[in-house]
Amino acid sequence: MLFQVVAALSLVVARTACQTYNGSTTIHFTTPAGDYTSVLPIGNGRLGITMYGSAAEKLVLNEDSIWNGNFQNRVNPNAKAAWPKVRQDLLDNKYNEAGNYGLANMVPENDEPGVYNTGGYLTADLGQNQNSMADYTRWLDTISGITGANYTYNGVQFSRLAVASYPDNVLAIRFSSEQPFDATLALGRDENVYNKTASTSNGMNQLLTYAGSGSSPGGLDFAMQARAVVDSGSVSVDSNTLKASGMKTLDVFMDIQTTYRESDYKGATDTSLDAAVSKGFDTIRNNAVQDHSNLHKSMQLSFGSSSNSAITQNTTDQRLAAFKNSPDDDIELMTLVYNFGRHLIIGSSRQGNKALPANLMGLWWNTNSPPFAGRFTININIEMNYWAVGAGNLAPETQMSLFDLMDVARPRALQMAKDMYGIEQGLVMHHNTDLWGDSAPTDNGTEYTLWPMSAPWLSTHYLEHVRFTNDLDLLKNRALPFMLDTAAFYDTFLFEYNGSMVTGPSLSPENPFYMPKDSDSPGTQTGMDIAPAMDNQLLWQLYNDIDEAYSLLGDPNNSNATKYRALQAKLRPNFIGSYGEILEWRYEYVDADPGHRHLSPLWALHPGKQFSPLLNETLANASRILLDNRMINGGGNTGWSRAWVSASYARLLDADTSWANAQETLKHFLLVNLWNTDSGSGTPYQIDGNFGFLSAIQEMIMQSHTGTVHLLPALSSNAAKAGGSVTNMLARYGFSVDMEWDEGPKLKQAVITSNLGNELTLRLTNGTAINVDGNAYKGPVKTSKGQKLTVTLA
Ligand SMILES: *[C@@H]1O[C@H](CO)[C@@H](O)[C@H](O)[C@H]1NC(C)=O
Ligand SMILES: *[C@@H]1O[C@H](CO)[C@@H](O)[C@H](O)[C@H]1NC(C)=O
Ligand SMILES: *[C@@H]1O[C@H](CO)[C@@H](O)[C@H](O)[C@H]1NC(C)=O
Ligand SMILES: *[C@@H]1O[C@H](CO)[C@@H](O)[C@H](O)[C@H]1NC(C)=O
Ligand SMILES: *[C@@H]1O[C@H](CO)[C@@H](O)[C@H](O)[C@H]1NC(C)=O
Ligand SMILES: *[C@@H]1O[C@H](CO)[C@@H](O)[C@H](O)[C@H]1NC(C)=O
Ligand SMILES: *[C@@H]1O[C@H](CO)[C@@H](O)[C@H](O)[C@H]1NC(C)=O
Ligand SMILES: *[C@@H]1O[C@H](CO)[C@@H](O)[C@H](O)[C@H]1NC(C)=O
Ligand SMILES: *[C@@H]1O[C@H](CO)[C@@H](O)[C@H](O)[C@H]1NC(C)=O
Ligand SMILES: *[C@@H]1O[C@H](CO)[C@@H](O)[C@H](O)[C@H]1NC(C)=O
Ligand SMILES: *[C@@H]1O[C@H](CO)[C@@H](O)[C@H](O)[C@H]1NC(C)=O
Repeated sequence: MLFQVVAALSLVVARTACQTYNGSTTIHFTTPAGDYTSVLPIGNGRLGITMYGSAAEKLVLNEDSIWNGNFQNRVNPNAKAAWPKVRQDLLDNKYNEAGNYGLANMVPENDEPGVYNTGGYLTADLGQNQNSMADYTRWLDTISGITGANYTYNGVQFSRLAVASYPDNVLAIRFSSEQPFDATLALGRDENVYNKTASTSNGMNQLLTYAGSGSSPGGLDFAMQARAVVDSGSVSVDSNTLKASGMKTLDVFMDIQTTYRESDYKGATDTSLDAAVSKGFDTIRNNAVQDHSNLHKSMQLSFGSSSNSAITQNTTDQRLAAFKNSPDDDIELMTLVYNFGRHLIIGSSRQGNKALPANLMGLWWNTNSPPFAGRFTININIEMNYWAVGAGNLAPETQMSLFDLMDVARPRALQMAKDMYGIEQGLVMHHNTDLWGDSAPTDNGTEYTLWPMSAPWLSTHYLEHVRFTNDLDLLKNRALPFMLDTAAFYDTFLFEYNGSMVTGPSLSPENPFYMPKDSDSPGTQTGMDIAPAMDNQLLWQLYNDIDEAYSLLGDPNNSNATKYRALQAKLRPNFIGSYGEILEWRYEYVDADPGHRHLSPLWALHPGKQFSPLLNETLANASRILLDNRMINGGGNTGWSRAWVSASYARLLDADTSWANAQETLKHFLLVNLWNTDSGSGTPYQIDGNFGFLSAIQEMIMQSHTGTVHLLPALSSNAAKAGGSVTNMLARYGFSVDMEWDEGPKLKQAVITSNLGNELTLRLTNGTAINVDGNAYKGPVKTSKGQKLTVTLA
């Protein structure tokens, strides 16, 4: 006995001594997850797992098409007749009447689209108790996409390793030990389970659960299946569980399919699981790792090593806690959060049959009532999810899912324009949608519900995609038709006001103001108005993009291009208010929430381009004044808002403020597993902030939205103390950038590859002089396809 303990101890010392973690790429803990805020998530774009790593393991399983209910044809029959009166009320400064009458007559009786639901869980009980687990480590490698836990139990080593495979379309987990062990496996779900079975026939150890979004089949139904494989010992059935005993390796393969994609949804899980079982865990894992790593490494970023290098071996929660006080000691934590964001977009957003984009939870959630219903909120959040994928070299693999959903929504949105506005041509969407493409207004408030502008915003993602990928087939066959349908709605909806074309009824998401003195309820809060600045910025970009699309397709004089160029010139311009700020609304109302989280009137700064300091310094300066005012008043008060703030300062070329705000994300908005939250630790996460963070970091390193490849436009000296590098970052219009910098930041070298042979316009930080291939850069350079150009300091 004594001997055994000593042996176990020396083993432990040896193991602990050689365990090191890469502080830029790996999240790790020395305890199981106490609750859902420290689970480690992996996914293959459609399926997700979160692992607790606890004694009795509970893996939460998600599938991105499990939503409650079915398509709901929601529309208020009064809306068609009501909206012209609401517009007139607003023109007459009767904001109160417009709000009440508009909500009562334009909001459908059912004001809720579908709700994202959890899948269920796999439990694996190894008969162990937490107190006797020792030498515990639990980790997520953001590059390979693997999560696992290792520990010893009574001196015996145990290991768990989970993967979510895109190529093999399954989830898999391996439980292993040096010594034979036993386990009880079960599939579970808390609601709407129709039946569940366990069986072991023909050597197939199966757990099968049928469930759905309602209490009986007929809505959105699904099958959840697990197959257990042991290397030795045996598997038997006990009621609806499987008892595996005497093995050293237990592999469980899992799949879920729903009626959203497969009429024979159970058969689809058989197909993927038959194949997975025959390939075996090692092959499934290797395929998954190769796929995830290749995609993750399609662009690589480094900020060098943390000045306190020892701290990178601390657990992620300890590092996060230390970061609050000394952020400059652990720059690798910033890199880790960046790498985790890439892991999350790869995990929640891939190409596929009727692919779905990352929702508010990505796809990971453990109940049927996620925060904000886990929907597609399209007045910022879902768009933010995709801001970084172009420059981050992930667009083709991840963003097609957004376009698939837009295709699902298109017929709904065309119908909504007719049914709700009586507008026969064009499509309209409001501020949320679900997997059926629901286009009706959601919830019931003047600051968010009646905003008919989401489709133009979504449309801009098409052109951004094409600018990075040059996918002209997509442009011709999917992008342009969607953009033209979107534009067609405003051909009728826009009206002339004070000499230019404006929208209304509308709002500036989701910001309230006080009704002015000459209104019907002075001093009362509302959100509804005509001509909010953001609407005109979105339409300016939509018309720009239609024009650009025709040019890219070699048809610049198409009558549609001419038409929308002309309409663009008639749009209401951006106005500057009394203290020099971009005016958010038609008049300079008194702000009810001057620190508001949405930066709607600064849309044209980021993700748009109209307010870029390289294009219009007047508008850039006015943007800065409004942004500073938001921040002075407590702005950036959610994780996603803070990411937008950071990216916006980068667009204003203010390196230090941009970096400081990105650091604030880590100080205030991340859970210990690095998931973004709305308001700090303890609150449920919302994934948009993780993705917005990617965009903020990228905007510091390179910008290309004006057509100029702008190297190190806004990278703080605090971010560059340990130097840094980026490989394969994409610039718009056909360039990829490898770049290294030293402290300063001082450009060491950039190698720019011309992928299309386009002309290259360059700029380095603040217009610093540069050489291209040893010659002074004086202006745009002609390139040939495949050419590599080396940029150095002059
Ligand atoms: C951590 O991983 C990154 C990316 O793979 C690599 O560049 C870096 O050298 C690694 N750091 C250490 C200390 O091994
Ligand atoms: C929305 O709010 C308006 C005004 O407060 C009210 O009249 C209407 O009944 C509400 N509609 C729904 C669906 O709750
Ligand atoms: C976990 O244990 C496995 C099996 O012993 C080992 O191969 C692996 O390196 C360990 N990983 C970590 C991070 O400790
Ligand atoms: C379980 O429910 C599914 C879906 O309703 C049904 O097709 C299947 O026959 C049921 N199986 C059993 C064993 O009841
Ligand atoms: C690791 O975290 C612990 C607990 O917060 C702290 O005391 C220690 O100083 C940290 N290690 C380093 C190298 O910073
Ligand atoms: C212009 O756009 C409409 C769709 O809005 C389309 O039907 C028409 O063919 C286009 N015109 C040309 C000349 O391409
Ligand atoms: C109307 O247009 C004029 C001239 O551009 C401008 O000065 C004024 O502020 C505008 N008023 C409103 C309410 O848009
Ligand atoms: C478009 O029109 C302009 C001006 O009329 C003309 O110079 C140009 O050649 C036309 N381009 C094409 C591709 O037809
Ligand atoms: C910048 O924008 C302002 C306000 O819209 C406009 O008056 C001015 O002409 C623009 N300047 C340039 C250089 O485009
Ligand atoms: C913008 O602001 C900067 C800094 O305050 C100032 O130097 C510059 O002249 C301003 N530009 C314009 C066009 O107002
Ligand atoms: C650009 O120059 C300004 C003014 O000299 C300076 O404040 C700023 O830090 C510089 N920007 C960067 C990214 O170095």
